[in-house]
Order: sequence, then C-alpha cells, then structure tokens
Amino acid sequence: MTHRLAVLISGSGTNLQALIDAIQAGTLPAQIVCVLSNRPDAGGLARAREHGLATLEINHRDYASREAFDQSMIDALDPFAPETLVLAGFMRILTTTFVQHYAGRLLNIHPSLLPRYPGLNTHQRALDAGDTEHGCSIHFVTDELDGGPLVAQARVPVHANDTPATLSKRVQASEHLLYPQVLAWRADGRLRLTDHGVELDGQTLPEQGYQWHHPDLADRPAGTQRQR
Ligand code: GAR
Repeated sequence: MTHRLAVLISGSGTNLQALIDAIQAGTLPAQIVCVLSNRPDAGGLARAREHGLATLEINHRDYASREAFDQSMIDALDPFAPETLVLAGFMRILTTTFVQHYAGRLLNIHPSLLPRYPGLNTHQRALDAGDTEHGCSIHFVTDELDGGPLVAQARVPVHANDTPATLSKRVQASEHLLYPQVLAWRADGRLRLTDHGVELDGQTLPEQGYQWHHPDLADRPAGTQRQR
C-alpha cells in the first residue's frame, strides 16, 4: 500500500503537478487519494481531473463560519483516509479544530525562508529588504500562521534585476523540487513530528529544518552581494 496523500489547493496547482510528476516518475512512492479546492475555478482542479484524481470542491463562501467550512472539509477528507495532508497553495487560514484533527499529518509549503515573511507578498518583501537570498519552506502546520515546526528549506539567489514575478518563478522551481522530496521522506516513514521537534531518520532536525541544496538552484557563487 502506498502512502495516501490528500492535496489541498486554491490556485494553479503547479505544486500538485510536481507531485503527480514525481509519482509517475517513481521518485515519490505515494498516491494522491483526493484533491480538495476551496475555489471551484482553481486551475489545479483541471490538472487533477486530467489525471483521473478524485476532486472535492468545498467553497468557503458557502459557509457561515470558518468552523463550519473546516468541519465540512474534515467530513469530506476523512473517508479518503489520508496519511498526510498536503497544503499546496491553499490560501485559507485553518481553525484549531482542523489543525488538531490532522496534527502531525498536515504539511504546508510557504514561499519564503521562514521565519522571515509569514503571510502574503513574500517576494516583494524580500526585494524591499534587499535580501540576497530567498526561497521556500515546508513545515508542519500548527495554530500559528506559517509558524509550525520547520521540516526543510530550499534557498535561491536574488538577482539584481529581479521583480516579484521573476523571483516567484525561481522560488516556485525550488518548491517543485523540495515538496516531492519531503513527501518521499514521509511516504518512506522517515519523517515525523514528535514532542521534541521534527525527526528525520530518528534524528531531530535543527530549528530551520533540513537545508536543501540542489545543484539546479545554485546559479551563482554563494555570498555574492546583490546591488540595490
Ligand atoms: C506556492 O508558491 C506556495 O508556496 C504558495 O502559493 C503558491 C501556490 O502555487 N503558498 C502560500 O503562499 C501559502 N501561504 P501553485 O498553486 O502553483 O502550486
């Protein structure tokens, strides 16, 4: 039995696509049991359908409260018996009820090197700060927005002529490498959340999580200063 993933999206689903591709390539020993979107028009739903995946559309606008919306998601997801829930561009803040229901099974990807830039507009904020380095983070989800224990980070350089769009593209490329890798650890039973923090192969990871250096992401020498 391969590891059962439920993927939650709100948008174009390029991370979802990276997972589908990794499963097809045999590098992610998992199956996507369902794809849930809170937006009926999310591009990722079309990707899911193209690949014959079960889809769930649960529009948050149909619910009077966050609690009711989240309970409806739980009711829809649980019959699929997901072992890991993958937030992949899911743009709703989750209630404590939801987070606790899936404690230790809920992962999120965020487009910054947390704890820098939780929330929105991360690429613009990194540019405004003159950062020479940016990237993405994967973390277990807790009640604190973008604040749960870090599993892994991938770093990319910031170029002098970057715009939020060019930087976003580079960060997304790093996301598409990092998420399949982290989920492969999960699928192989190597990654878990304990009372002491995040464990990979029985070792507690440092606070910033595993630092992923992929050769494709290092396109200039480390330490080069960005001209502002
Ligand atoms: C990704 O860049 C992801 O990090 C971000 O949304 C994008 C979704 O892209 N998530 C957040 O900002 C969550 N706070 P995708 O739909 O193409 O995978």
